[in-house]
Amino acid sequence: MAKDVIIACDFDGAEKTLAFLDLFNDRKPFVKIGMELFYSAGPDIVRKVKERGHKVFLDLKLHDIPNTVRKSMAVLTNLGADILDLHAGGTISMMKAGLEGVCQRVGARPLLIAITQLTSTDEESMQRDLLIERPIADVVSHYALNAKIAGLDGIVCSPLEADKVHKTCGKDFLTITPGIRFEDGEKGDQKRVMTPTAARQAGSDYIVVGRPITAAEDPVAAYLRCVKEFLGE
Ligand code: C5P
Repeated sequence: MAKDVIIACDFDGAEKTLAFLDLFNDRKPFVKIGMELFYSAGPDIVRKVKERGHKVFLDLKLHDIPNTVRKSMAVLTNLGADILDLHAGGTISMMKAGLEGVCQRVGARPLLIAITQLTSTDEESMQRDLLIERPIADVVSHYALNAKIAGLDGIVCSPLEADKVHKTCGKDFLTITPGIRFEDGEKGDQKRVMTPTAARQAGSDYIVVGRPITAAEDPVAAYLRCVKEFLGE
């Protein structure tokens, strides 16, 4: 299975995003398009980034009634993204409905991934705000198992949980891990973080890196540093 570094392009418009991607000549990075960019630039941004030769993780984190998720996933699948996601908190039936939507595509379907707990959520805020009183590692493993039961391809989780998820759900169940920071970098609002090197050692399949690359003085150098640390290239 291909491991890779995915850049979170959290920009507020197509122009900024395409100008940023123009910096990358030799190696076309895997790109994550999230809510901010999708809502500001519209669905066409997915087609434009794909046309430039990038793989796309369309990170819209769907969470709604199963019927709405099924139909929305079918629409998003037609945009040509390589990875789509939804919240495991929507229950197994919602995840199954999402997979049905994705499978309506003729030919290769995108990977469908579940969000467990956001990496900005720590155990204290999960217990206090959501009244989920179990340890966060148990909650993530349980949500991961639910995603596997629903037939999904993997989960988004903290790199701190990647190893446990592989032990629970199997080594082929994908772990996509944000919350990545360089040893010498700012943490920002992320609470549970790891370096690219540590994420590789922990068994992450894909790392998602935003500000450490997009806000770097030299984004290409920061990206290549991530690739080197994570993939050993
Ligand atoms: O800038 P930074 O590296 O913190 O960006 C992380 C990206 O990963 C953001 O786009 C954020 O929305 C996303 N993400 C996350 N935690 C999750 C799921 C997605 O940080 N559990």
